[in-house]
Amino acid sequence: MKQRKMPRHFLSLLDLSPAEFRELIQRAGELKTTLHAGKPHATLTGRTLAMIFEKSSTRTRVSFETGMTQLGGHALFLSSRDTQLGRGEPIEDSARVLSRMVDCIMIRTFEHETLVRFAAHSRVPVINALTDLLHPCQLLADMQTYFEHRGDIAGKRVAWIGDGNNMCHSYINAARLLDFSLNIACPRGYEPENEVLQPAADRCSIVSDPATAAAGADLIVTDVWASMGQEQEQRKRARDFGAYQVNEQLMALANPDALFMHCLPAHRGEEVSAAVIDGEQSVVWEEAENRLHAQKALLEMLLLR
Ligand code: CP
Ligand code: NVA
Repeated sequence: MKQRKMPRHFLSLLDLSPAEFRELIQRAGELKTTLHAGKPHATLTGRTLAMIFEKSSTRTRVSFETGMTQLGGHALFLSSRDTQLGRGEPIEDSARVLSRMVDCIMIRTFEHETLVRFAAHSRVPVINALTDLLHPCQLLADMQTYFEHRGDIAGKRVAWIGDGNNMCHSYINAARLLDFSLNIACPRGYEPENEVLQPAADRCSIVSDPATAAAGADLIVTDVWASMGQEQEQRKRARDFGAYQVNEQLMALANPDALFMHCLPAHRGEEVSAAVIDGEQSVVWEEAENRLHAQKALLEMLLLR
């Protein structure tokens, strides 16, 4: 029997080479210019993306769905509340069935292991649209945004302020691929996973004081203190993270032309002050828009090569 070609998945940024990451940023910029010029760019005519959501989403859903329409394809929104997945159909069976019908599958789920198991049984590319471990699609947009405003990020200093969560892990992976340094300021007990941090130890370090991380930074990034699925820890986390707010005092320690990013949704007055997120150094709206362009470039990379 003819051997089936293995699909190319995007479960982590580390599924890209450094050169591919830069190529993708470049293509995302071209797609943005093309869209803004009102020119058609239907490179995925007739293709279908299935989008499985086991958690809420605004940006990820809208950017993938709109992106597929703009590329001439179609996207299917599949909430686990309405599919057999939510009623206990094995993840492996869902992967086998869906991947015989669609061209690409995007999943937002809790345990990273669920995504890995799904991908292992899929005949078509699978995209990680956020797990508890990683959020690689967001980093495509964040890096596109940095490159657009300041050029290549290689050799720059990035400060991560807050939880050592899925976003922090993806920043660590981006630092490995794009060669920037990352200072992570987090309270004790909220450090990133060692298995993610260790291979990047030459360029990523953990400090407990946000001021130390922010000093001389070119980019300051934060995220919510309680991620999806941690709602019941909200009060404890608000206490533990009280000293980790990105505010004007903290931004003043960074380079004068430092940018501020946040994947959103944000909680003004918690992880970021209103003055910072709504201020001049913040590029969060561009960052959110770039989800659309960067993921279109990703879909092309996975489906057209
Ligand atoms: N940043 C992000 O992934 O947003 P959503 O949860 O709205 O998709
Ligand atoms: N860390 C956040 C990111 C949301 C886009 C979460 O997992 O809820």
